[in-house]
Amino acid sequence: MLGWPPMDLPSTLHVSTHPAVLHKLAILRDEATEPKKFREVVRELSWLLGYEALADARVRTRRVTTPLEEMDGHELADRIGLVPILRAGLGMVDAMLELMPTAEVWHLGLFRDERTLRPVEYYNKLPDSTTVDLCLILDPMLATGGSATAAIEVLKRWGAVKPVRIKLVNLIAAPEGVEAVTNAHPDVEIHCAALDRQLNDKGYIMPGLGDAGDRQFGTGKAGA
Ligand code: PRP
Ligand code: URA
Repeated sequence: MLGWPPMDLPSTLHVSTHPAVLHKLAILRDEATEPKKFREVVRELSWLLGYEALADARVRTRRVTTPLEEMDGHELADRIGLVPILRAGLGMVDAMLELMPTAEVWHLGLFRDERTLRPVEYYNKLPDSTTVDLCLILDPMLATGGSATAAIEVLKRWGAVKPVRIKLVNLIAAPEGVEAVTNAHPDVEIHCAALDRQLNDKGYIMPGLGDAGDRQFGTGKAGA
């Protein structure tokens, strides 16, 4: 179990230290932030994390004619699939599509049974064949890691296995979730804005931000 503060973080975990990320994350955590602002900041943070997660994506050269001369420019060579986990992952899609306009979006519906904390799959919009080089799973919260692990297993069963790469993009991760994903899928990289302290007895991330789906869509109590 990763202690707190964690001493030996897996090399696959990337926690952003960018000042803009830190600033926006505090707004997101604040219980006074209303759904409209919350959605806006989820979007902005997603863009920044997506930018970091794409740092090792492959590019190929593309001949470009500037007003002055011809040159070799670049374009993304990786075919990218975005996999938002419903509901809360929906808020991360638009920003990612701005970064990667040619990406395809495949929705995956998973909710966490609040009694068992186990994920339940209810929707799957993956295409018939694997047509990508890189899958980005989008979900604001990595808590027990149950939903993320289930999503990775769905993708691998579907055919997203080496050389296809899978990355997880979360806003906030708990040590328990990082450990569960890393143990089950050491090949999957995790990009997040923060690694928080622990889960509470209801499986909520502490200090966290409450329920990411409820806070985006104005439903429920939004707390633990
Ligand atoms: C939340 C969150 C993750 C999951 C994380 O979704 O968006 O998908 O919980 O918890 P885990 O790591 O313990 O699996 P939730 O089940 O609340 O569904 P929602 O997005 O529809 O609100
Ligand atoms: N899902 C959330 O939305 N928040 C948590 O803290 C844990 C799971």
